[in-house]
Amino acid sequence: MSYKNKNVWITGASSGIGESFARAFFKEGANLILSSRRIEELERVKSDLGGDDSNIYILTLDLADSATLPAKAKEALGAFGAIDVLVNNGGISQRSLFEETEMDTIRRLMEVNFFGSAILTKQVLPAIMEQKEGHIIVTSSLAGKFGTKFRSGYAASKHAMHGLFDCIRQEMYDYNVAVTIICPGPIKTSITENALTGDGTSFGEIGDLHKSAMDADEMIQKIWGRVKSRNEEIYVARPKELLALYLKRWAPGLLNLILKRSKVV
Ligand SMILES: NC(=O)c1ccc[n+]([C@@H]2O[C@H](COP(=O)([O-])OP(=O)(O)OC[C@H]3O[C@@H](n4cnc5c(N)ncnc54)[C@H](OP(=O)(O)O)[C@@H]3O)[C@@H](O)[C@H]2O)c1
Repeated sequence: MSYKNKNVWITGASSGIGESFARAFFKEGANLILSSRRIEELERVKSDLGGDDSNIYILTLDLADSATLPAKAKEALGAFGAIDVLVNNGGISQRSLFEETEMDTIRRLMEVNFFGSAILTKQVLPAIMEQKEGHIIVTSSLAGKFGTKFRSGYAASKHAMHGLFDCIRQEMYDYNVAVTIICPGPIKTSITENALTGDGTSFGEIGDLHKSAMDADEMIQKIWGRVKSRNEEIYVARPKELLALYLKRWAPGLLNLILKRSKVV
């Protein structure tokens, strides 16, 4: 698949994995619509990429603000006249035990990670289906495949994404619209600093698991071939984290014992 002159809408494009996605698509000649809340960071990404108004459109949005998202999707569709690829990447994580977590915090994780992506996808799908060609990419997580301590709301939101986008994939086969779900392990970005604690305030630290992890550019480099081949599910993590995926499937009891003794922050 070539991205030359394709129109790619990326959420969470102001930092981390989304910014690295933007770099990769732009290098291949795509036009970008960059979205997140912080306009100054989106402008920085645009300027770092060397883009201009002819090939990069900045569209601020808050994934938690459901009511505003249909209008944002309309604006995105109008930016370059069509959308070929939607990257549902914007998201927040969590660092708190369930019993210490307010339900509003769980709801916020669901709003940003699940409902935000669901609404944007619903809004752009009819136009993409009409084109009979398109690609929906979703950044899930290994937390979308199994749960650990401190991630109850986050893992729930990512598991929900798998349910939703697995179904959408089945419904889109006849329209030549691919759905790729990416499941990264720890990647060195701002994700843990921005993670929500029980009362909804930010965790504010880089967790140990993330300090030694690969960075977002390395992650995108590792998966880029599989993204372009429109693989349906992509895992990218260190070997022991990938092993957890297989244990979840074939020896879940053993995985639970290992996770019980593992440091997961
Ligand atoms: N890093 C990891 O270890 C890891 C592992 C597995 C999965 N992931 C997933 O990867 C995705 C990207 O995370 P990252 O690691 O790149 O972390 P990051 O550097 O913190 O980036 C998160 C992005 O999401 C945006 N965002 C957060 N809340 C938003 C909201 N309410 N509305 C709109 N945009 C919002 C942020 O932009 P603004 O602040 O400008 O809004 C930022 O661009 C997330 O879905 C995350 O769950 C990350």
